[in-house]
Amino acid sequence: MPVIAVVNRKGGSGKSTLAAHIAVWCARQGHSVMLGDVDRQQSSRTWLKRRDPALPTVAPWAMDQKNVLRVPTGITHVVLDTPGGLHGFELARVVMFADAIIMPVCHSVFDRDSAAACHAELMALPRVASGRCRLATVGMRIDGRTSAGQVLRDWSDGLKLPFLGVLRETQVYVRCLERGLTIFDLTPSQAATDLAQWAPILDWMTPLLNPVQAANDPSPATRAVPVTRPVPAARPATRPAAQVAAAPSRLGNSRPASLMPAQESLVHGGRLSAFAASTRPASVPAQPVNRPSLPRAASPAESQQIPQFLKRGA
Ligand SMILES: Nc1ncnc2c1ncn2[C@@H]1O[C@H](COP(=O)(O)OP(=O)(O)O)[C@@H](O)[C@H]1O
Ligand SMILES: [Mg+2]
Repeated sequence: MPVIAVVNRKGGSGKSTLAAHIAVWCARQGHSVMLGDVDRQQSSRTWLKRRDPALPTVAPWAMDQKNVLRVPTGITHVVLDTPGGLHGFELARVVMFADAIIMPVCHSVFDRDSAAACHAELMALPRVASGRCRLATVGMRIDGRTSAGQVLRDWSDGLKLPFLGVLRETQVYVRCLERGLTIFDLTPSQAATDLAQWAPILDWMTPLLNPVQAANDPSPATRAVPVTRPVPAARPATRPAAQVAAAPSRLGNSRPASLMPAQESLVHGGRLSAFAASTRPASVPAQPVNRPSLPRAASPAESQQIPQFLKRGA
């Protein structure tokens, strides 16, 4: 079960905005996605409440009486929104479950310094340092008339941190979020500029979200382009073919045979599955389309061992 977490210590850096967009994008790819909000401010929950049920479904997280986040049955993909100030044990716990972390960074020196500290802490965690949990950054709220985007790219390069591109500062995001929408719910002509900015981010995430498909893809040339993706034709080519070709094998190696099955149960979605609720929430479609076949589910024994998924901090 692919898990993408959006992490940055700084409040207001755009975590909830990114998380909501990633979740909706997953839903529009036909995945049964849950947006888990481990932030006490619960911005994502507020946004979800505003969302029109007729739109592609994003399931809310489910909490039980012990305040443990549970993944409802039928969910195939998880996006985690996290609070500002996440560090130490709480950060490590998120990393333990995440296949990828995206860090939104605004352009000021304070934002960069804070993000650099967060990056250093993340790189000290074996799952991140080894590449099993991938890490990348996105420039947030960037004024295209300034050099802010380039400054952030240089900063990111200096840290050897993949830089996926920038999202511009625009009220389109603010207005969408107020209505329970994302720009992926707009028509391409309503948000062409912003959708184009998402293209490299989506390119980076796609093999993570479709690991089985990616591993089985014969070649980039024959790989089908997801039909539901609303990015306009003007989308820039972002990755050389060699890099695209390399992606499936990288992912295929993300769970080396030598580490299975013990490590898999430690670091991957098996644990999330272990908390599957007994009933499917009404909002989750019964038959998700394009749903990839998934790795094995956790055994009942594992379920018993794992009572601590993202227990929220006091
Ligand atoms: N690209 C953007 N352009 C304009 N406003 C944005 C953009 N991204 C986020 N915002 C606004 O910035 C504020 C903080 O974003 P949010 O996602 O809540 O950050 P965080 O979750 O890190 O605290 C929100 O009011 C949001 O609407
Ligand atoms: Mg938030």
